[in-house]
Amino acid sequence: MANVTTDSADIAEEETEHMIENNFVVEAENVASSIDPKEMRAVILAGFGGLNKLRVTKKTMPEPQHGEVKIRVKACGLNFVDLMVRQGNIDSPPKPPLIPGFECSGIVESIGENTHGFEIGDRVMAFVCYNAWAEVVCTPVDYVYKMPDKMSFQEAAAFSLNYVAAYMMLFEVANLREGMSVLVHSAGGSVGQAVAQLCSSVPNVTVFGIASCSKHVAIRDSVTHIFDRNADYVQEVKKISPEGVDIVLDCLSGEHTGKGLALLKPLGAYVLYGASNMVTGETKSFFSIAKSWWQVEKVNPFKLYEENKVMAGFSLLNLLFKQGGGVRVKTVMDKLLSLYNQGRIKPVVDSLWALEEVKEAMQRIHDRGNVGKLILDIEKSPTPLMANDSTETSEAGEEEEDPEGDNDNKERMPFIQ
Ligand SMILES: NC(=O)c1ccc[n+]([C@@H]2O[C@H](COP(=O)([O-])OP(=O)(O)OC[C@H]3O[C@@H](n4cnc5c(N)ncnc54)[C@H](OP(=O)(O)O)[C@@H]3O)[C@@H](O)[C@H]2O)c1
Repeated sequence: MANVTTDSADIAEEETEHMIENNFVVEAENVASSIDPKEMRAVILAGFGGLNKLRVTKKTMPEPQHGEVKIRVKACGLNFVDLMVRQGNIDSPPKPPLIPGFECSGIVESIGENTHGFEIGDRVMAFVCYNAWAEVVCTPVDYVYKMPDKMSFQEAAAFSLNYVAAYMMLFEVANLREGMSVLVHSAGGSVGQAVAQLCSSVPNVTVFGIASCSKHVAIRDSVTHIFDRNADYVQEVKKISPEGVDIVLDCLSGEHTGKGLALLKPLGAYVLYGASNMVTGETKSFFSIAKSWWQVEKVNPFKLYEENKVMAGFSLLNLLFKQGGGVRVKTVMDKLLSLYNQGRIKPVVDSLWALEEVKEAMQRIHDRGNVGKLILDIEKSPTPLMANDSTETSEAGEEEEDPEGDNDNKERMPFIQ
């Protein structure tokens, strides 16, 4: 990422000059938008569908309830699941309009009644059951964690979801141990990079990473072997390891379920933790969903018994918000923060975006462009071109719709760290 940092510094400087010359009025409007102390800026998903369903608006400031912490947000994580939420491509989605987002970092601003363990001014990261992409968030204290002093707000927003999911899959579901081998899809993504780093915390673990070719240079050092996502990876893995692998982490589903199971060694574990293959365009595709369901290997437990294989599923959001897993996750977070403090794991941040740039940030994931995590940086101003394409609107304007597929400024550069 070193060259990217230098290039992006130049780009950021050019953008700043351009902004000063051409767009200072628009920027001033953005600052003025959050002056009312009872209001906050937030990203709103007006309805399920394409990128045009997202806009930035003003919402009433939430106040902490019993057992909740109120956080002045500094940065939010943008995850693949947020694309699926936008499309309405998840189980039992809440009714829009809604504020998307499941994780953020920031500073504790106030504390609800009967809420212990935090003080005003604490630097924290948190899980939120939606509502994270806003200037202020309230969430139960069980989902809030103190940040290490040396961790930046951007790093913290890139930490919780990916590392907890990666850790629990590797160590609590699949029981990763010294000398084992792991195959991971989307190895350049945020979970993929967390998996790779955690694997390197165990001696002598072989990681087979699969990713788009464009990412291979950037992530080559994080995995042992890397394959193009279009390659016949089953054959490629078998050339290196004819007996297969110990753990397959599959976030794609569809045909990859059968391939993953076939690649397992005896006593190996296949973990399904996502369904990225169901996303094939900007809006929900019933054809892709049906195809993925159809292609998923329908496994008879007798077959698993005969072949000595383990098949598992993992959903952190369900564990946290539907299955009361907060205490268990807190224990995992403590272990992860210890690894972070020892310098053994470090979130990879792909790029920082203003709230107003959320559509372009999501487009970057659709385009498979990210290496690591995309962050919505609350204090970042939108770049000038985005300011011209003002997405800000009043709350009453939530129902307004842009023409389908409106996303004119895909070529603009984000601020890359
Ligand atoms: N179960 C859980 O608890 C849990 C928690 C977090 C994330 N997840 C899942 O883990 C996966 C990765 O999540 P993430 O947030 O870290 O995202 P991510 O990997 O950063 O997502 C972006 C990458 O996914 C790959 N990809 C695969 N299919 C894609 C598609 N149809 N469209 C666009 N990109 C696609 C692309 O990389 P390549 O082109 O290089 O493949 C892309 O760059 C997702 O399936 C997500 O739902 C599950």
